[in-house]
Amino acid sequence: MEILKDKIAEELAKLPGFVEAKLDPAAIRPLLGRPPKREMGDAVFACFIPAKNAGIKPNDMAVKLAAGFARGAMVESAAAAGPYLNLKLNRAAAIAATLAMVEMQPNFGDSEDGKGKTLVLDFSSPNIAKPLAVHHLRTTMIGNAIKKIRESQGWRVVGINHLGDWGTGFGKLIAGLKKFKPEIEESARKIADAHLKAHGMYAQKEPSPLGAMKVGELNEVYKRFNEEMKADPALEDAGRKEFAVLEEHIVALDKKGRTTIDGEINFRIWRAARELSLAEFQRFYALLHLKFERWFVEDRDRRVFWEGQGRLKPDEAFRDHAFYVGESFYVGRNDLCGKVIQDAKTSGVAKESEGALVIFTHGEKKPPVMLLKSDGATAYHTRDLASALYRQREFNGTELAYVVGGEQKLHFDQLFKALKMLGHEWADRCSHVDFGLLLFKQQDGTWAKASTRAGRVVILEDLLDEAVNAVREVIKEKNADLAADKDAAEQVARAVGVGAVVFNDLKNGRRNDIKFDWDDILNFSGETGPYMLMQYVRMGSVTEKYRETFKDQSWESGDAAKLTLDAEWGIAQLIADFPAALARASKEYEPSIIAKALIDLAAATSSWWTATRDTRIVNEADAEQSRARVRLVNAIRKVLGRGLTLLGIQLVEKM
Ligand code: ARG
Repeated sequence: MEILKDKIAEELAKLPGFVEAKLDPAAIRPLLGRPPKREMGDAVFACFIPAKNAGIKPNDMAVKLAAGFARGAMVESAAAAGPYLNLKLNRAAAIAATLAMVEMQPNFGDSEDGKGKTLVLDFSSPNIAKPLAVHHLRTTMIGNAIKKIRESQGWRVVGINHLGDWGTGFGKLIAGLKKFKPEIEESARKIADAHLKAHGMYAQKEPSPLGAMKVGELNEVYKRFNEEMKADPALEDAGRKEFAVLEEHIVALDKKGRTTIDGEINFRIWRAARELSLAEFQRFYALLHLKFERWFVEDRDRRVFWEGQGRLKPDEAFRDHAFYVGESFYVGRNDLCGKVIQDAKTSGVAKESEGALVIFTHGEKKPPVMLLKSDGATAYHTRDLASALYRQREFNGTELAYVVGGEQKLHFDQLFKALKMLGHEWADRCSHVDFGLLLFKQQDGTWAKASTRAGRVVILEDLLDEAVNAVREVIKEKNADLAADKDAAEQVARAVGVGAVVFNDLKNGRRNDIKFDWDDILNFSGETGPYMLMQYVRMGSVTEKYRETFKDQSWESGDAAKLTLDAEWGIAQLIADFPAALARASKEYEPSIIAKALIDLAAATSSWWTATRDTRIVNEADAEQSRARVRLVNAIRKVLGRGLTLLGIQLVEKM
């Protein structure tokens, strides 16, 4: 209805009652709404404001406007109902106007509302040297959808992958590698030696001291080190020292100070761990058709930063990519962490507590924001503070959002509060876009979250692979033609398998916990990704059938007056509601609003097809009706396709 408001308002403005009340289209439009019940009509006009201006009662205004009503092309009838005027639309006209809009706009529902505004969106942000976990699927999918949705509304969206590539854990990892795999230290030492002997000149390409190690193996080393630490507390100290050496090293690099051989070694081990993690993440992101580019490029071993590029880079760069700006960036770049710490100290916001430097954001009883640990290392919060400041300086965000699980609520409450305490009013424009857990079915039938401790780790890639495998099997079984074309079949299996997982994730409000139930997710009917894609494909086949039957592809000239079924009217209304749903999904960071709209649309389409079983969509005996119906089919398909794309799901033409 939203999209018809302009037309309705224009028509009403010409009626004598509205002219007398000095209501022009601009004044009428915001007073139009949707009736609470379908039986009441298709739209309502609220009489309170015009009545007040005319000095009469709203009910009297409604009666007056109804009395002077004359039917127009779009509005068929008007009846006073208390302070409201209930309007009935001319279905054919409303359907025709709706279809024309869908056909005219390249992307129906897109708007320019956000022109000139920037959203800085933190999403995905996995930790290096660890396998991706399932919650990373959620932040990646929700974030990716939010990015696309906001962009559809004209926003510039700067997607940032706040890679977890820094922290005391890496000290333990390095200590563990040195302890359990001395050859790695040996190799790193050789590389570092050669570098120092060449007076700091870098070799063309340094080998990786980690060789062909996998992320999973790094994680094993880390876990084993933690295990042994329990019996031997001295190891904890060793880890701490390794991290201090690493942190001093990148600060020294940044300040062009002297580096030490130990720093060079640790830096090489860390950097290699980072590189091999990124290579593994890349495979996962590719499945989702997501691209992260490096915000700063490492030119051989020197780092070249794209400083100032936030304002200089063309908008397309932000649309086509998101960027890795890992936590290490804020330690090793322009002393960004150092400046936050300094500022917090001089302003008196930070306090010493048990040898650490902290900010009490929620009173002295709640854990404070940690700026410097007692051993002098930076903390998760330090780097988040530095990154918030950097983002605001570089991108000047209208909004800054963090797509991170609900478990980190306190972390973000504290972060925003600390920013405020440090005098940054724009902290009010920051939000934590939180989400619920992904639950898995246990042997005893209950649902529980994946947890490392209980041995229920679910590795993300396995999960996506499993989905793709399952779809591959279905294709073999059900569509021999497609299966015979290996490449095409593979592409479909991926799109449908990954799309199944994605849709399952996005169809419920993001704050809900999500049950990961294979039977549900991969079902080809119901509220699932495969079903949505299947409908999309079917609508393509219907169009194809029309084309073959009538040797015609001019369905856009189909006559809306032929669409007289209630089901057709219902579908047209759902289509007309799509832009408003999209705008709301954008504003509320809630992709599920789009998923819900698509579910409704697919369900309405399916009942329409059932209702037309006798006359059919493509009916050889009635070319005119067929053309009108195929026109509607194509409008639905376009909306469904656009919606799925905005959710980050790849479309397929066959399946
Ligand atoms: N690396 C963290 C994790 O995997 C998420 C980081 C979220 N973003 C942030 N700016 N803190 O849980």
